[in-house]
Parts: sequence; C-alpha cells; structure tokens
Amino acid sequence: MGLRTKPRRIFVASILACLVLLGYYFLTKVTTPLYSHVNIKARERPLGSEERVIADSDGGKAQSNLERKKWTDNIQVDGYSAAEWDMFDSDHVDVAIYSGTQKWTKRKTIYRTVKCNETRRTISFRNALMDVTAASSADVLIFGGGVGSLKNFQLLKKLRKPHHIWLHTSTESAFQAPPIAHYSIKIDPAFNMSFCYHSKAEVVAPYGAYIRRLEGDTGSTAITPKPDIPVLVAWASSHCEHAFWNRTGFVRDLSKYLPMDLFGGCGDSRIPRNESGSEILKKYKFYLSFENTCCSYYITEKFWKALGEYESVPIVIGSSKSEYESVAPPNSFVYADDFDSMEDLASYIKKVAKDEALYNKFHEWRKYGKVEVYTNRLVWPFVEDQNACRLLNYLEKYAWRKDHPSHMKIDPYGPDWAGSCISCGNHKWMKDYGLESKNFTERLHSLQRK
Ligand SMILES: *[C@@H]1O[C@H](CO)[C@@H](O)[C@H](O)[C@H]1NC(C)=O
Ligand SMILES: *[C@@H]1O[C@H](CO)[C@@H](O)[C@H](O)[C@H]1NC(C)=O
Ligand SMILES: *[C@@H]1O[C@H](CO)[C@@H](O)[C@H](O)[C@H]1NC(C)=O
Ligand SMILES: *[C@@H]1O[C@H](CO)[C@@H](O)[C@H](O)[C@H]1NC(C)=O
Ligand SMILES: *[C@@H]1O[C@H](CO)[C@@H](O)[C@H](O)[C@H]1NC(C)=O
Repeated sequence: MGLRTKPRRIFVASILACLVLLGYYFLTKVTTPLYSHVNIKARERPLGSEERVIADSDGGKAQSNLERKKWTDNIQVDGYSAAEWDMFDSDHVDVAIYSGTQKWTKRKTIYRTVKCNETRRTISFRNALMDVTAASSADVLIFGGGVGSLKNFQLLKKLRKPHHIWLHTSTESAFQAPPIAHYSIKIDPAFNMSFCYHSKAEVVAPYGAYIRRLEGDTGSTAITPKPDIPVLVAWASSHCEHAFWNRTGFVRDLSKYLPMDLFGGCGDSRIPRNESGSEILKKYKFYLSFENTCCSYYITEKFWKALGEYESVPIVIGSSKSEYESVAPPNSFVYADDFDSMEDLASYIKKVAKDEALYNKFHEWRKYGKVEVYTNRLVWPFVEDQNACRLLNYLEKYAWRKDHPSHMKIDPYGPDWAGSCISCGNHKWMKDYGLESKNFTERLHSLQRK
C-alpha cells in the first residue's frame, strides 16, 4: 500500500503544480489587456514582419504599468525603442509633388497609390505642382529639382509643420537643378532627405550599377568582337549647346587627333531609324561618356550604357576620378583628366586600341560582374512602384521618430552638391574648356561668405 500511495501523492502534487502554473499564466494573460495598447503599439509600429518585432508580449516580466512601460521602452527595433516610433501611426503616407517639371502634371500615371510588398502601409502621390495649400497638407513634400517660385516657397515655409518631410530629388546635376532659381539668393530649404543618384542621398538611386556575380554564376563574359574599322571612338549626343563647359568644342578638337564618328544632333551622321543605336555604337572600341556638367556623382546612363550596352570602354569627363572608381567596375574606363594634354589622351587611346592584350584588360571585369543600366525613371522616387516602396521603407525605418528629426545629409550649397561643380578637370588644358562654371563657382563662393 505504502508503495502505491507515494506515486499517487506525486501525481496529485504534479496536477496541483500544473494548476498553479496555469492559473498564473491565465492571470498574467487576463491582466494583459490593461496594458495591451502599449504592447500593440510596440508590435505594430515598425511593420513589415511581425516576427521580427517582439516575441511574447509580457514573458511574465511586466507586473505593473510602470514596469510594463519600462519594458516596452526598452524593446529595440532596428536600434530604436518602441516609444520612438510613436509618430508614425498612419497606415498611409501621403506624398505631394510640389515642384518639378510641368511635363509631370500631364502624366496622370504618376499620381497613384502604391501597395508595397514589405509593409501593409500604402503610399500615394498627388499633384501639387506649385500649389501651396495642397502641398502643405501632405506628409511628404517632393521638391523635384528646386523649390519653385520664391514667393510660394516662403508661404510654404510658413505653413510647414514639424511632421512634414521635405524631400529633395533630382535627375539633373547640381548645376542644372539648383535648390532655388540660379543660386542667386541663398535660402536654406532645410530638406529632411534626398532621393537621388548621389551616394550621400538618404535613398541612393543611381543611373546604373556594377553588380558583382555570385560565385558559380557564369554569365557571358565575352564581348561581341569589334570589327576591324579605322574609327576607334564614337559619340552620340543631341545636346550641343552647353553652359557649364564647352563639350562639343572639346569633342571637335579631340577628333583632330583621333578618328571618331559623331552621331546625333551635334554630330555628322544620324543613327538610321531602322537600326538600333546600341548595335551601331557596339562597333567602336571606345565611347565618349562626357557629362554635360561636372558635379559630384553626376554619372549618368551615358557611362553605364557604354559599359553595359555598347560593350565599349568609356572615356569619361564628369565627376571626380575617385567617385567613378567607387561605383564603376575595376579598370573599366579612361579618365581624360589623367593626361597632360589632349594629344597625350589621344595617343594613349590609339595605343590601347592597337594592343589587344591591353585593350582586353579593360574588359576583364566582365568575368566578375555585370553592369545594369537604369533609366532616369529609376532615379525619381515616384515613377516606378519599386522606388515608391523604397521611399516608404526608408520613411518607416528612419522618419518621424520622436527626438530624432531627419536632416538631409547633403548641403545644397556645399561640396556634395552645388559646391562640387567647379571644373571638369585639374589640368589647365581641361579647365580651358570651362564656361559658366567659372561664374557659377564665384557666385557660390559669394553666397557662402554671406
Ligand atoms: C568651344 O570650342 C571650340 C573648339 O575649340 C571653339 O571654336 C569655340 O569657340 C568654343 N566655344 C566657346 C563658347 O568657348
Ligand atoms: C536599314 O535601312 C538601310 C537602307 O534602307 C539598309 O541598308 C539597312 O540594311 C537597314 N538595316 C536594318 C538593320 O534593317
Ligand atoms: C511585389 O512582389 C511581386 C512578386 O515578387 C513583384 O512582381 C512586384 O513587382 C512587387 N511589387 C512591388 C511594388 O515591389
Ligand atoms: C525636417 O527638417 C526640419 C528642419 O531641419 C526640422 O525642423 C524637422 O523636425 C524635420 N522634420 C522631421 C519630420 O524630421
Ligand atoms: C559669366 O562671365 C562671362 C565673362 O566674364 C560673362 O560674359 C557672363 O555674363 C557671366 N554670366 C553670368 C550669369 O554672370
């Protein structure tokens, strides 16, 4: 008998222990609703995947409101406490496009609502081009290139609310897209973020990219063989008149030393309508990827297409060499300002063209990566859904956090934007092709002194 009562006692004790545990569990569960608003907030603030947020609501830790609050405050999501997410409590982000080109007004497809995959929030864009009242009621205001008329801007500034995010965006260089008309008066737009091609933008959206291949990915590394033609270099452009530097004059002068085919409005021949530009330009070993202005990180599809589509070696004039190097495939381009004269540049190109091994070195990167070309549609935050969602994701992660106001990293008048548009090179022979760039820098310096 004694042998039988012992297991029974143990059995009863275990049942009791279970009941106590269950009771405790239910008690804590029942008290949860008292604080659950805190919990739900913490759970819902950073959206996306719920799993990534908080495991169990209380874990038996929270015994009082105060403790609960402390505990909630200590939850870190992406490095920020739940309390800091308090300002982002809407399911929808309303974006007004305030300035930009009139062309956009007509493109109805821009003004739409986008549902993004990684979040349950939506983001919508509406037309408020130069419409101060319409713009000031939005969460985010887009300044596409500039702030528009000074009068409107000042009114908008008065109507600015602390939660407004002023977003700077531009597909043009700083020289062509000043924050205000022509950098004549210094006003601080105090943007909160930038969405553009510059590497210091809060959301970087370049014109192209070098993508390293994953191990085992053996894409085609060979280029279409170049025909044996005497002309080594091609250039295609329809914009011949420029303010910043004398690009067309430079090309004309260079063509005296180097056999060149010039296509487009400022060239001698046109790409036939029945043929594709890429197919024609692919025949040339080199392509002139000369930007219309020389400003920080202003590296456009002219460069990426030469690498990706024409399978040629771009000869570049644009941003600084180190900026090209930071985004381009290794050993993939010729930097014009490396040479002491135009003759030196031309003779180097001829030397490389003649020496097959040397020429092929410029294509070696293709074994390790590929280039993707993006159009300027992908530089804007609103044209493609994919970019609208990149903007929304950025806002969810970094904007509207209590005690963490957002400030754009790029100073519109500083060395990353307007202040970088000084000259296309350091050598005198390059500087001699500068035009308005000289006045521009002077004007900017006088602003900076103020
Ligand atoms: C541009 O360069 C060409 C060729 O050197 C020259 O003839 C022309 O006068 C220059 N234009 C300007 C505006 O400096
Ligand atoms: C384009 O048209 C020209 C002249 O009509 C012809 O010689 C050429 O073969 C055509 N090219 C293509 C790709 O059809
Ligand atoms: C959402 O995901 C689908 C499937 O992966 C994709 O086709 C679509 O482009 C995505 N939408 C956005 C807005 O990113
Ligand atoms: C946006 O920038 C302004 C000016 O620097 C700042 O006062 C404001 O708090 C910022 N807004 C947000 C939502 O971060
Ligand atoms: C720039 O300088 C040139 C030569 O000094 C002058 O002719 C031109 O008017 C100036 N442009 C501006 C916008 O100041």
